[in-house]
Amino acid sequence: MVKVFINNEITYVPSNSTVLEACESIGIEVPRFCFHERLSVAGNCRMCLVELEKSPKPVASCAMPVMNNMQVFTDTPLVKKAREGVLEFLLMNHPLDCPICDQGGECDLQDQAMFFGSDKSRFFEYKRGVEDKNCGPLIKTIMTRCIHCTRCVRFAMDIAGVEDLGTTNRGRDTEIGTYVGKIFQSELSGNVVDLCPVGALTSKPYTFIARPWELRSTETIDISDAVGSNIRVDFKETEVVRVLPRLNEKLNEEWISDKSRFSFDSLKIQRLDSPYIKGDDRLQQCSWQTAVEKLKTLLLETPASKISFLCSVNTDLNTLNESKELANILGIQNFGYPRNFDFSFDFSTDYLCNTSLADVEQSDMCLLVGLNPRYEASMLNLKLRKRYRQGLYQTASIGVPHNQTYKTDVLGVTPYTLLEISEGRHPLCKNLRVAKKPLILYSSSLAERHDFSGLKKGLSFIEKNLKEKESKWNSLSFLNQESNQVGAFDLGIGSFKFSNIHTQELCVLLGSFREEELDKVIKGISSGTKLIFIGTNGCEFTAKADLILPTTTFLEKEGFYMNLEGRIQKTQKATNGPALVRDSFKILRILKKRLKTLEEKPGYKIMDLTKKESFSLKSKDLSPSTVSRLPFSPFLTDFYISDSLSKYSTTMAKCSDAYSCLLYTSPSPRDRG
Ligand code: SF4
Ligand code: SF4
Ligand code: FES
Repeated sequence: MVKVFINNEITYVPSNSTVLEACESIGIEVPRFCFHERLSVAGNCRMCLVELEKSPKPVASCAMPVMNNMQVFTDTPLVKKAREGVLEFLLMNHPLDCPICDQGGECDLQDQAMFFGSDKSRFFEYKRGVEDKNCGPLIKTIMTRCIHCTRCVRFAMDIAGVEDLGTTNRGRDTEIGTYVGKIFQSELSGNVVDLCPVGALTSKPYTFIARPWELRSTETIDISDAVGSNIRVDFKETEVVRVLPRLNEKLNEEWISDKSRFSFDSLKIQRLDSPYIKGDDRLQQCSWQTAVEKLKTLLLETPASKISFLCSVNTDLNTLNESKELANILGIQNFGYPRNFDFSFDFSTDYLCNTSLADVEQSDMCLLVGLNPRYEASMLNLKLRKRYRQGLYQTASIGVPHNQTYKTDVLGVTPYTLLEISEGRHPLCKNLRVAKKPLILYSSSLAERHDFSGLKKGLSFIEKNLKEKESKWNSLSFLNQESNQVGAFDLGIGSFKFSNIHTQELCVLLGSFREEELDKVIKGISSGTKLIFIGTNGCEFTAKADLILPTTTFLEKEGFYMNLEGRIQKTQKATNGPALVRDSFKILRILKKRLKTLEEKPGYKIMDLTKKESFSLKSKDLSPSTVSRLPFSPFLTDFYISDSLSKYSTTMAKCSDAYSCLLYTSPSPRDRG
């Protein structure tokens, strides 16, 4: 710790602090544009100038380290004059755009010009003009507003790992751009909108939609992947207009992926707004009373063995639990989620990401098996990149090569590489043997392979043989992709069996599903099967349904979700949704109450669907005879249209078109090392 005098007040700060941090430690706010806690220091805006004893000129506090007995002054006439001067230079070429600028009302330049700037202008020349750049379907650019703080450039390089943005020319001709005509290709591109202190980079979907003082906000969580990033939802009147990240150091820090940020428009598209019942060969609107009665009748009239009940794992825990209980009461055996996990998980460590996202930074090497964390869990990938940038870190992967934004050694694409590692024949074993906190991550797409039992055995064997591993460090982690898959595992819900769906007379779908899951149902059922849909958006299935019950989305109700590391988080109600939609949990609860009379029905027995089978391997070991030659295939083929919500989003559809080359690109020469 060193002793520093700030405005003659003594404070003690760590010796590696900057003057700006020292000022903040005693509550003195120093204005800044280019400085950001999570980015490297650039020191180019000069807004943070302070006066130091024995220094003839004011110095940039964000780039000046503290020294013992340093005397700092933040409120002298010199500092005030310096700040006025900096703002005068910045405003010289800044357009008078505030009335038509989307940053208006939350603009650092506006605020700081107001507090620290002069009250008159001395500039009567022509202002410079800068051509706007095309950064893709998400980011709108008005480059004359740019103050060259380079936050966006440093974010792209340091955090996102995409070197698409940069500065060209010098002095008055300085421009921020993509060097050549290309779009900013990153799954995290939306974060530059939050970082840009002025209105140079703003959100395209939010253009001219609202002013900050017209908005109300709700703090909730994102369900587009299993991380459960913390978000803030802004809504104007009753409509959601923007999603922003919320600080959570243990999960998403202050970033979110573009899917979390921009896919909310799916909530309005093809939205089911009333119950529908099939009559005269077409769907007709009906009352909730009629719909629930019809649902009850169909469930009672159909033998339990002829009912299929498919529930989505993007649904909250209460709904999942209620649907399981309903299946129990009715004795429905073909009940489950649509992932084909042909085994049971005995212990929670089997299906959790045992190394929390916060602990990833402590790991000393990482092996990715059949996994692309950049698209399957973007926030986890950020942590891996952060660890990689700290140095002395090896990342290796088995599976289709991807550009992870950091150097990754691709060891192979088939399970044979895993076999070599488990037998100690692979060069990687040398590093695994000495690692103290290694990380082995495997994707849930592995769990859908027929040879998973052998693969799991091999992975556990490798983990057990990590000789130098610290005893409390759990190296092996399973990476779920769905927002509440862990919750479904915890509730003991199993996989839905598509194999006998053609024999079923009634098929109930609860929640939102991917295209391929709906395809399997539609192709599998026979022509006479009655279909019931309980969900949010219309789809191919709803057109064929006999009964539709519209439900609220995750932004319209409170619900609990368990993220990939087993953390329980709650969604908050941000808006109401259409008048006639209802919470799926309440629908099931009412139905359950009405079905209580069933218990007197002869032959009725409660099925215990919660009972877990013991973990039994189909094959004893990982060996050439037990593993397939099939390469590990990626779980996602398109990052932007990957889940049941993003498939309805027009913004995500535009991104999917624009960034079609984003997947499966090879690492840049710099990433290759
Ligand atoms: Fe006004 Fe800020 Fe927009 Fe510049 S960036 S036009 S100061 S609101
Ligand atoms: Fe800074 Fe915004 Fe300009 Fe990027 S575009 S350098 S973030 S002002
Ligand atoms: Fe210090 Fe920009 S904040 S130079």
